[in-house]
Amino acid sequence: MNRNVVAGNWKSNTGFNEAKSLTRAIAEATGDTESQVIIAPPAPYLAALKELCGAALALAAQNCSAYDMGAYTGEHTAQMLADVGVSHVIVGHSERRQLYGETDEVVAAKVHQVSAAGLHPIICVGESLEERESGEHMNVVKRQLQKGFFDVLDAAKAADVIIAYEPVWAIGTGRTASATQAQEMHLFIRQWVHEAYGQMADRMPILYGGSVKPENAEELFSQPDVDGGLIGGASLNAADFISIIKANDKWITAN
Ligand code: 13P
Repeated sequence: MNRNVVAGNWKSNTGFNEAKSLTRAIAEATGDTESQVIIAPPAPYLAALKELCGAALALAAQNCSAYDMGAYTGEHTAQMLADVGVSHVIVGHSERRQLYGETDEVVAAKVHQVSAAGLHPIICVGESLEERESGEHMNVVKRQLQKGFFDVLDAAKAADVIIAYEPVWAIGTGRTASATQAQEMHLFIRQWVHEAYGQMADRMPILYGGSVKPENAEELFSQPDVDGGLIGGASLNAADFISIIKANDKWITAN
């Protein structure tokens, strides 16, 4: 797996036509990128957008069921996503934890489902403002990693994981973690992965998310343990998203 990744989380945005043109524009730009590029559009569009992605652009879902197929109205399983060509699933996003009451246990069940379907989980971790201000941020992230990752996946499955560090206070607020804050947490996460799973920590993509824009992407991505980004708002604009991908590519080429 390429350690350098730029992923766009479209959240509950875009109409179908807009989603198609955005996908086409991004697919066109990803043929020669150094970074693995992933888009996570709304679920109803996934199957249709798969046709537009081409070989280089990977498709992610933003969520999946914590259960297998069955009587779970409104849910889509990880296997259903795999069947329509999805390769990655975002799990444990703070909006799902906060707005839909997803606990560490629910996140763990979803990570298990994603992995069992042969897909890559993009596991989101991150602290609230209150937790950072009380100095609890490392402990919070450690707990989320322990319960949603280590307790669920053995070493063979863990190699498929992408981690996204998204401080809740930086999501959609325009307030970004400083490059130093991001690097400090990313290094902490990589060391945790190293302790848990050994050498694979050096190959695991650890992405930063939270108000990444073309203007701040280069500085964030230049940190040694920031391998790319999980981009919300700025991924809805093809030019901005492509410029963020280029910022990551520039860093890779220079090193
Ligand atoms: P913003 O880039 O809009 O802050 O969102 C980040 C995010 O939540 C990506 O998953």
